[in-house]
Amino acid sequence: MDQQEYKSAVDRRTTMTVLRIAIVGYGRMGRRHAATIARLPHVEIRAIVDPVVRSSDPHDLPIRELDAVLEDPSIDAAIVASSTDAHARLIDRLIAAGKPTFCEKPLAASTTDAEQLVAAASDAGVPLTVGFNRRFDPDVAELRQRIAEGEVGRVESLHFISHDATPPSADYAAASGGLFHDMSIHDFDLARFLTGGEVAQVSAFAGRSSDAAPATEVDVAVTTLLMDDDTIVQINNSRHCAAGYDQRIEAFGSRGSLAMASRPTSAVRVANEAGFRYGPLSPGFLQRYDTAYGIEIEAWVRSVREQAEPWPSGWDALEASRVADAAAACAATRTTTTPSRPDRRESPRAPVH
Ligand SMILES: NC(=O)c1ccc[n+]([C@@H]2O[C@H](COP(=O)([O-])OP(=O)(O)OC[C@H]3O[C@@H](n4cnc5c(N)ncnc54)[C@H](O)[C@@H]3O)[C@@H](O)[C@H]2O)c1
Repeated sequence: MDQQEYKSAVDRRTTMTVLRIAIVGYGRMGRRHAATIARLPHVEIRAIVDPVVRSSDPHDLPIRELDAVLEDPSIDAAIVASSTDAHARLIDRLIAAGKPTFCEKPLAASTTDAEQLVAAASDAGVPLTVGFNRRFDPDVAELRQRIAEGEVGRVESLHFISHDATPPSADYAAASGGLFHDMSIHDFDLARFLTGGEVAQVSAFAGRSSDAAPATEVDVAVTTLLMDDDTIVQINNSRHCAAGYDQRIEAFGSRGSLAMASRPTSAVRVANEAGFRYGPLSPGFLQRYDTAYGIEIEAWVRSVREQAEPWPSGWDALEASRVADAAAACAATRTTTTPSRPDRRESPRAPVH
């Protein structure tokens, strides 16, 4: 950047108008996104909308009703981070009021609702962005770039291990849309993001592996996707993992493989009589994807300011939602083929020596 370009950039920054944001839903994710907004220049939080947050909120942000936000022309855009079961009716109203909206994943608890929201945003010309934060994780972005550059040749299969550390509360699970819409949806999106293709076929198994899971929930699942170029994607999800929040991806190609390892909380390794050890894994998504959450909101703010196309868009959310429906249906109906069994009497086991 030469001196003139630098000066223009400074001029642009200093003459920028302030972008005013409402945050609708002020739990874990609403607060995480508020922290990003707080450090961005020329952006401010004009309203927090959340029925359980009182004016005694420690961050001293203005608590307002949704109706007041919708009617306030000085509010430029909104972040929806409410529980999933409330997304559809909140987004529908924000879109109708012409507010560019960033919504946490999944866009809605059902594909029918997601379809209606995407159609409404498209008809109204209001940008609708969805919080597939993992696309913004530096490790995932590097993986995608190196796949695209052909470093390991043609990618034949992708393997995901995506395990939460601890199960969600029963209330969260009941409002979440279920494991495939709430959790696997990230991996369904990354399958599209990393391969650049669409999902052609889905198969899935799911079960309850632990009494710690909410009673109505499956808590472990394996989903296989066949992409439209025949790449096979295998996704292992669990709602609990003794080692911590475990996030791994491996891409096998015709000329080698690329692996994204789980990140320990410290890269310092100790070696002693017990062997070699790094720090533990992150305790949860807020720590593991902290960088990604910051980058995604910064990118969204820029896209609103520049009136750029939303990315990831409502359409991306809809694609992932359809895959989640297919996986949930496979898992629920247990549509499988039983392999034929050998007749043991005619083919005894070989003796063990
Ligand atoms: N991208 C990610 O990595 C990630 C991680 C966790 C959760 N999420 C998503 O973020 C959303 C919120 O999850 P969370 O973990 O922050 O949940 P949370 O339970 O911590 O917070 C949800 C908040 O929404 C509020 N709320 C409920 N109905 C509302 C309404 N009608 N209007 C305004 N506020 C309302 C609740 O009072 C609560 O404070 C969910 O959709 C979830 O799927 C995304």
